Formats: sequence, structure tokens, C-alpha cells
Amino acid sequence: MQNTEKKSVGQPLNRQDGRLKVTGGAKYSAEWALPNMSYAVPVQSGIAKGTITGFDLAQAQAAPGVLLLLTHLNPVALAPKDVLERVARQLGENVLPFQSNVVRFSGQMIGLVVAETYEQARYAATLVRPTYAVETPLVEMREGKDKATRPTGRNAQGKRGMADEAFAAAPQKFEATYTTPHEHHHPLEPHATIANWEGADKLTLYDSTQGVSGVQGALAGVFGIPPANVRVVCHFTGGGFGSKGGVWPHTLMAAMAARAVKRPVKLALLRQHMVTTTGHRPTTEQTLRIGSAPDGDISAMRHNVLTDSSDVSSFFETAAFASNVSYDIPNFAMEHAVVKVNIGAPTYMRAPGEAPGTFALEVAIDELAHQLKMDPIALRLKNYAEIDPEKKLPFSSKHLRECFTRGAEMIGWAERRAEAGSHRDGRYLIGYGMASATYPGNRQPAGARVRLYPDGRAVAAAGGNDIGTGAYTVFRQVTADALGLPVDKVVFELGDTTFPAAPVAGGSWLTASVAPAAVEAAEMALQAIATLAVADAKSPLRGRNVAELAFGDGRVFVKGDPKTGEKLADVVKRTGQPYVEACARAETMAQARDNGGLNQRSKAPCLVIAPESETDKNDEKYSFHSFGAQFCKVRVDPDLGVVRILDWASVMDAGAILNPKTARNQIQGGIGYGIGMAMSEETLYDPRNGRPVMRNLADYHIAANADVPEIQVAFIGIPDPHINRLGVRGVGEIGITGVCAALSNAIFNATGKRLRDLPLTPDKLVG
Ligand code: MOS
Repeated sequence: MQNTEKKSVGQPLNRQDGRLKVTGGAKYSAEWALPNMSYAVPVQSGIAKGTITGFDLAQAQAAPGVLLLLTHLNPVALAPKDVLERVARQLGENVLPFQSNVVRFSGQMIGLVVAETYEQARYAATLVRPTYAVETPLVEMREGKDKATRPTGRNAQGKRGMADEAFAAAPQKFEATYTTPHEHHHPLEPHATIANWEGADKLTLYDSTQGVSGVQGALAGVFGIPPANVRVVCHFTGGGFGSKGGVWPHTLMAAMAARAVKRPVKLALLRQHMVTTTGHRPTTEQTLRIGSAPDGDISAMRHNVLTDSSDVSSFFETAAFASNVSYDIPNFAMEHAVVKVNIGAPTYMRAPGEAPGTFALEVAIDELAHQLKMDPIALRLKNYAEIDPEKKLPFSSKHLRECFTRGAEMIGWAERRAEAGSHRDGRYLIGYGMASATYPGNRQPAGARVRLYPDGRAVAAAGGNDIGTGAYTVFRQVTADALGLPVDKVVFELGDTTFPAAPVAGGSWLTASVAPAAVEAAEMALQAIATLAVADAKSPLRGRNVAELAFGDGRVFVKGDPKTGEKLADVVKRTGQPYVEACARAETMAQARDNGGLNQRSKAPCLVIAPESETDKNDEKYSFHSFGAQFCKVRVDPDLGVVRILDWASVMDAGAILNPKTARNQIQGGIGYGIGMAMSEETLYDPRNGRPVMRNLADYHIAANADVPEIQVAFIGIPDPHINRLGVRGVGEIGITGVCAALSNAIFNATGKRLRDLPLTPDKLVG
């Protein structure tokens, strides 16, 4: 079979959902209207540690419109205890709401008020009066250092060679400690869930999530019902950045309440709720030790991370992991130590691990370059990892050298003065900085479905989610190309568990996972058309061999003889069926085989499973990583410490680029997010009661347009020959990596002052 249609992949197409979004036509989770809806408002703990000794509920009970007050005193029936404990480990918080009177952090969900209207529920929630036996919480990581534990596992502790001995023997030594604060995701759309039960065991959820499949599995587990009985719908997600990758208490609480009141329940969180119960990026204290020869050849590195997690979470920030794979260093050790504190659960936040980790690593490399009087790019090239130094496997595809070269040209690196603080523009200081970017090239099992209709349209679907990334659009493009149809004849649908199961939009893996499944499904749909045509007396292709046929322009025809053939739509029409359908599931890597979760859940309703056999074992032969280079130019006011970012250049090697517009937008978004992380983002907690002090977007400054310069983005664009048939890795997270380091390095180059503690606020420059 062959497809002669010209390609839409690689074209900068506008978003399939763009018009819906800018006209208000995109329906977000809280916007669904169900008949007989009721409204829920949570009650949160006011203490960080202790027990609830009682509730005064009388006033709340008597308030107008109140339908239900849910607390640990009247819990809703859930799955058996042993099942719950297993499921809970996979939730955002590993202790389910309302199961006991124990309080483990300030803001913990301890009650829920359901009323006829939102206003009634919100008012009644203010009347709930809990009483507590208060214990002294541990809020600050540094005060709990002696209680730190060392997690085990793939990304936690690692060692090759003799890092400490080689460091001791190295002629050039560098050591420094870097810190990063707590940060919050703050997606524009707050989390929201609408839950509706049909009878006792069928549940529908409209949930703002990065992955409907994960929500389905979690809810089925919590309520002890088959996954097929849980339908989760989420067509649009107004940003997640990791905070909607897990399942948080409010989603469970909405379902619990709906079961109790036997009506649909809407639970829409306020931004103030989100700072405690939908995750955050934990704080880190990272010490790097690097030993090298005078020519910059690095012989030893140790990257030690102290980070905090919560009493209700086993998540920890794998900040040293990027150091493990970035440079050709024979003697390496990494260590993660975790202090559990009485604040809400941390979670994945855009490039978890890599974002704070590359800050420390890439500033340390810059510091070493300065100490050795080397150009920072030259030092990176000196220690360039040709193969994965940890796995000792070749990279599937790595073009970082080209990223350095192009980025340096784009920013004007030749203008950089090696002597820090020597470049003036009037009263301002000018500096250039750069850093490497890196993120793993992940892939997960995924399904997709393609339906061909008698009117010539195709509708494809997968149970993944577009969280603002452009997923709808790129999947539409790959499907259209595979079918030989123009893109405007193809629609791609996402965000419903009735579609073939696909992974969460996280780990930058959705595109690399779903795109190959979509292509497989499209090809199988064409195969079905060909099979129907050759057996159909009314077809001009009757009696032909399927292998002689080609497809393109919405037609099936004889190879080399395009006139002998017919429209795909005509074949569909003659079946008398509403559509011809094919389903495929692409499952390839060992990582995918290990992924019990997705495989255990509701199987995709696919008739045929089409594994990509040629890439099936590639994860044992290659190491999959994306790489890139971040370059920036800053202007510092030496009196006020104000930093202006004048220019940014980012060059990314992420394999094939399916849509340069949406991909560039992802990288620009990552850099904008990274600029916020570098310059202003920080959540502080009151050490007395563990409450986050920053609870809104006025206190917590995310980079705005005025903070972000024009961002130049270039892609190497060379397809990865081993990850999947499209050669595509993800671009969701790599954009933020290296950003904080590039800025700190540029500020040093401008001022001679080294900032090792995020955020890089003016007080630290003039102080
Ligand atoms: Mo991403 S932080 O894996 O949603």
C-alpha cells in the first residue's frame, strides 16, 4: 500500500480546536450543565497536624439549601480496605479523604458541603466548626534534615565508578549548593469535577484532567466497580503542567457526594484550594561536587539532593537524574534524601526533576568553566556524552552539538565578554548565558481508532487529552496523511474513556505514543477498504489483489494507474454501514510492558492489536533522550538589581516536528514558565501552621508578557529513527529545562554575582 497524498505533517497548521477556544465554544469541565445538579464546597483543616476531636455541624445543617454534610463521621461506602490501600498509593494523596480524624497538613479536605446552589454550599461551609487536638507540625525541610530518608528505585540513588575518590584526586575541584523553592502549577483553569451516578455502580465524571484513563482507573478502584462502569469526559483542559496528571481528593469527593445525594454534584475548586490539594513542586537543596583536569575533562561528579515530600505522598523530586545522563563522566554518584513535612502532597510539575535539577547542574558547569577560564560551550563539548554514560547504550538520536552551534549564532554569543561585569550599555550591565536542556524521550502504550464515513470524512479518536499542547491538531495531521485525506476532512477526538485507552498527557510522551497508534489505525482502515473493494462486484477494483492498490486524495486505486479506482467514501457507502472502522494499539517499549496500569484497565475496543514490531525492542538497544540549548541575553540595572531579559534563543533536538507552530508554542510556553520559575515564582509557608502564604496570582507572580522577550525557537528536526515510525519525541517539558540556569549564568556574566538560590529576585542581586 502506498499513500500519494501530499503531507500535512510538518506544516504549521492552526489548531483544530483554536476557533472553539477563542469563541468560548470549548466546554471545560465545570461548564457542563446536568439536570438536577447540586453543588459542593469543601471544608479544609485549619491546622497542619493533629486530630479532629469533633465538628459543630448544627449551624451548617440548618443553613438554607443544604443537602449533605460529609465528614469522616459519615463516610460513603468504598472498596474493601486492602483494595483502597493499594489504589490510594497511586493517587495524588495516598490517604483518602474522610477515612479518619487524622490531620496531616493544613488545607487537608476534612469535610464537604453539598447544597442546592453553589452560594448556599459556600455559605454553609463557613459554618462548619471543627475542633482539633493540635500537634506540632514539621513544616520546614531544613528543620527535619535528621529525619530524612533515602528512597530506593531507578531514579533515586545511583553510582558508577568511584565518585568521591576521583573527586579527591582531581586537580580542579568545584563545589556549591543550590536551592529551589516550593512552586505551584497554577493552570489558568482551576480543577473541577462533576460526578453523576446512574444507580449504584455506574459513574460518569466531567473532570479537568490530563488523563481520562487514569481518572477512570482510580475511581473504579476507589469505589470497587469495574473500570468499564466509569466514564470520564474531558475535551478541554485549561492547562495542567502536571497538577492534573494525578487524581486529587476533590474528584473522589465529588463522586462520594453524588453517590450519597443521588444527584449530579459539581465541585469546582478555587485557586486558594489548589495551593494545598492539587500538588506543587517541592523545594530542593542540591549540592554538586565536580572534579576535573585543568583542560576541563571532568573525572568526577556527585549530585546530592535534599528535597521535601508530604506525610500523604511518596513523590519526590528526582533532581539529580539529568546529571546522571548529561555528561561523559566516568565517576558519578547521585543521592536523593527526602524529608516528609506537614504540607500538602507534591507532584509532577513541568519537567519534574529536570527543571530544578538542570538549574543546579548547568549553573555548576558554568561555574566550573569560569574557574577553568574556559568558554562554557567548550567545557560542555569537552565532556559531551556520545553514548548514555549510565546505561552504556547509544542514544537513539542526539544532535546537541548542532543545538549549541545554532543557538550561539541566534543569540550572538560572539558578543559575550568572557570577563564578568565588563560589558556595559550606559548604566546597565549586559550579560549572556547558556545552558543545556534535556528530557527523556518517553513512550507509553496507546490506542487509537479511525472511522471512515460515507460522506468522505474521517473521525479518529483516542482516550488521551489535549491540555493546550496541540495534540488534537498533530494527531489530526498524522491521521490525515496516513489516510491520504486533506486535513479538513479529518477530525480527531480526545478526552473520553469510551475511546481506545491512551496514556495521561504527561512525561512528554503523548505525541510519541498516540501518533503511531493513529497511523496504524488509519492504515488498517485503508486495508479494510481495500479488502471490501476487491470483493465487491460494484467496485472497479473487483478481483484485484489488495497488494496492487494505493491510496491518495480520498481514493483507492491501482498503483501506477490512478484512474482505475474509486472514492473511499463510495466503498463505505456500499457497505450500508454508518462507517468503516479500525482500531490499533501501539505498545512497544519495555517501559510499556511494565506499565501494568494502562494494560489492566478497560481494554481498547479494538478488533486488531497492531504492535509496531520493528521498534518493539528498541528500548533495550537505545537510550531515548531529547536535548537542546537555551541561550539568553540580559540587561541588569546595577543599582536596583532589576533584570530585563532582552533576547532568548532555544534550539531543540526532539526528533521529527509534526507541526512547527504548535511545537514552537510548546517550547515558548516552557521558556515562559521557566522564566517565571527563575525570576519570581515561590510559595512560602507559614512555619507555625504550614499554610501557604501565596494563595493567588497576585502573591505568586507567574511570568507575564512584560517579563518575557520575543523567544526564538529552532528545531533540529531530524527524525529519531528508533522511537516510533514517525520519528517523533515529545516537546512538552524540555522547554523549561535549562532556563533557570541560562538566566543565572547570564546574570553572572553581566554582574560577576553568582545567584544560586531561586528565584533570582532583585534583593539577591543588590544585597
Ligand atoms: Mo508532566 S509534569 O509529566 O504533566
